Amino acid sequence: MKFQVTLAAAFLPLVALAVPTAEAQPAEPVPAEQVPRSLDEVSKRSSIGCKIVNSSSDKVNCRSGPGTSYPVVAYVFPGTTYTFNCYKSGDCYEGNCTWDRVNYSGGVCYVNGYYTSSACSAAALGKC
Ligand SMILES: *[C@@H]1O[C@H](CO)[C@@H](O)[C@H](O)[C@H]1NC(C)=O
Ligand SMILES: *[C@@H]1O[C@H](CO)[C@@H](O)[C@H](O)[C@H]1NC(C)=O
Ligand SMILES: *[C@@H]1O[C@H](CO)[C@@H](O)[C@H](O)[C@H]1NC(C)=O
Repeated sequence: MKFQVTLAAAFLPLVALAVPTAEAQPAEPVPAEQVPRSLDEVSKRSSIGCKIVNSSSDKVNCRSGPGTSYPVVAYVFPGTTYTFNCYKSGDCYEGNCTWDRVNYSGGVCYVNGYYTSSACSAAALGKC
């Protein structure tokens, strides 16, 4: 019995020291790209599968923003279905002024609504 009490007393300072050390860890800043811009954006973000249609070309431009002046950063291919997350209003093409946002390896890019199937309606996607 005496031995056990002595042992406990000997280890107690070590345990007591360990707790404040763990709590004293400073918080780590969260990278900006992991922080949603607003709660609004989170609630409206969707995942809709839309096929690339209405193109006579072998590929369709995916641009860095919702307009033809934005650089082409990726391509999507007619007949292939991609997951779109939301839309932005921008330059009109063939009467369609919505640009549907899709992820690619370098970030996000936008395809004009003229080239996406009807599953990519503004209502289904929600505004970015
Ligand atoms: C675009 O393609 C869809 C599906 O193939 C078709 O229903 C629609 O009529 C086409 N729109 C135009 C403007 O050609
Ligand atoms: C697209 O990327 C964003 C972050 O940039 C992420 O939140 C979202 O889940 C991604 N969507 C898909 C379908 O991978
Ligand atoms: C634009 O395209 C989307 C499908 O991608 C369609 O839901 C929408 O009705 C089109 N808008 C116009 C004005 O044609």
